[in-house]
Amino acid sequence: MSLRIRLLLTLLCATSTVQVAAASDSPPAPPPAAAADGPNYDADGKLLWPANYREWIFLSSGIDMNYNPLFNMPGHSMFTNAFVNPSAYHAFVASGHWPDKTVLLIEARGASGKGSINKAGKYQDSNFMGLEAHVRDTSRFEGGWGFFAFSSDKPAALIPQAADCYSCHAKHGAVDTTFVQFYPTLIDLATQKGTLSEAYRQDQATTR
Ligand code: HEC
Repeated sequence: MSLRIRLLLTLLCATSTVQVAAASDSPPAPPPAAAADGPNYDADGKLLWPANYREWIFLSSGIDMNYNPLFNMPGHSMFTNAFVNPSAYHAFVASGHWPDKTVLLIEARGASGKGSINKAGKYQDSNFMGLEAHVRDTSRFEGGWGFFAFSSDKPAALIPQAADCYSCHAKHGAVDTTFVQFYPTLIDLATQKGTLSEAYRQDQATTR
């Protein structure tokens, strides 16, 4: 055996010994912990009211947007506020995709014009008009995502897959069937990460 080969073998043995030693010294890796802020369900599979969602990450507000029959209340002006659980937000910022156990919410609130010292424009009032959820839970939902609508803090049942929630979001959502095109800090990020859906890119091409 030449000196070079012997040297190489010695080196290889040394590194593998170090690796074995390192592996046997460290405890086995724990299974990945479920996100503490992920979705919770009751025994019937209804989604539990996410009590502290007002402490989650705020994505954006819309005013009098017109797309969802549930939120179309004639004669009412309203804001819609989008929130997401913090663990999912951080994963999105890193990858441009929503991870499993994402909970996206949209809260509808009354928009008032006159009140206190306000003279023009609109502000959000304390009139809560509903909360909808879009949840990624691949072990539970066909297609990976489920929609829910809360009218109070009681658990909400899964909206069936045939509902138009699923088709509109799949046809027009910018990323993973969600409306990232309306969340101003995330749309550029998703564009840079290359995670925009084919459906959204086609929408953009035809509306330009
Ligand atoms: C015609 C299209 C359309 C339909 C139908 C629709 N949505 Fe949406 N949805 C939107 C748009 C647009 C947004 C972005 C809203 C914003 O920025 O305020 C949105 C946002 C949401 C969000 C915030 C998370 C996300 O995916 O971006 C939830 C939750 C949601 N919708 C629930 C529902 C539910 C529940 C239904 C069915 C009852 C539904 N939607 C039906 C268009 C639709």
